[in-house]
Amino acid sequence: MKANLIIQGDALTELRKLPECAAQAIIADPPYFNVLEDEAWDTQWKTAADYLAWCEEWAGEAMRVLCDEGLCFIFGQLGKREHTFLHLMSQLSRSHQFHDLIIWDRAVGYNERRDSFTPQYEMILVLRKGDEVKFNKDAVRIPYDEKTIAQYLKDTRYKNMDARKAHLEKGKFATNILRVPSLKGTSKEKCGHPSQKPLDLIEKLVLCSTDEGDLVLDPFFGSGTTAAAALRLKRKWIGIERDETYVQLARRRLHALASAEPQLF
Ligand SMILES: C[S@@+](CC[C@H](N)C(=O)[O-])C[C@H]1O[C@@H](n2cnc3c(N)ncnc32)[C@H](O)[C@@H]1O
Repeated sequence: MKANLIIQGDALTELRKLPECAAQAIIADPPYFNVLEDEAWDTQWKTAADYLAWCEEWAGEAMRVLCDEGLCFIFGQLGKREHTFLHLMSQLSRSHQFHDLIIWDRAVGYNERRDSFTPQYEMILVLRKGDEVKFNKDAVRIPYDEKTIAQYLKDTRYKNMDARKAHLEKGKFATNILRVPSLKGTSKEKCGHPSQKPLDLIEKLVLCSTDEGDLVLDPFFGSGTTAAAALRLKRKWIGIERDETYVQLARRRLHALASAEPQLF
């Protein structure tokens, strides 16, 4: 199957054309439903029920395309008064196998609410297909800083300090709360998409769920963050995006990456 390409078209239609068990990981950051009220692509359904029915359809096709040991990451955000993503998680966890719920801690709050705490996280539902999954836990370890390592090495209960040091230098296992600052308007990474995800966050998802050479599929490609992550990590990628403007934006972004880091292409 051809890879490293953007397919311009509707996610559901294009997913139906892809073969079964082709992608090792799927990173889906779909419209949220009435969260970005100024974006036509986020307000295209009359009711939450219509939106949920559409999600059930594309997610079903995405799971068909997923390899047996693969993981499917689905981003969601609660709107000001909407709890649609909670229903979506519940619905998809009944029709598919739930694997995990990741909290993306955006490090700063957004959409300030006067009547509740300021929201600071987004959820990422993770679905699996089979009983065994590929998960590279070591690849997403979080390094300890030198001061912490020095502190831990003072613990005299450990007899073999070389082994203890080597163990600490591998870093600690990441939890399912991923703290990655969201992109500020002035961020150098920001390239003009209203819901562009940080490269660092997408890289963690790609790293933990795939090996070099595996295929990552993104059915809601936007500015192409998944491709940028896949290229940096030597994975193959396919992106589907309906909006011509964003297809052009992603192409420009990947061309710029090719000029800055030609060895990736
Ligand atoms: C939340 S954004 C994805 C942002 C992306 N993760 C990034 O980092 O740039 C969702 C994207 O889905 C696209 N989209 C909306 N409906 C679609 C559909 N039916 N098929 C394909 N793409 C669609 C929108 O144009 C938008 O770019």
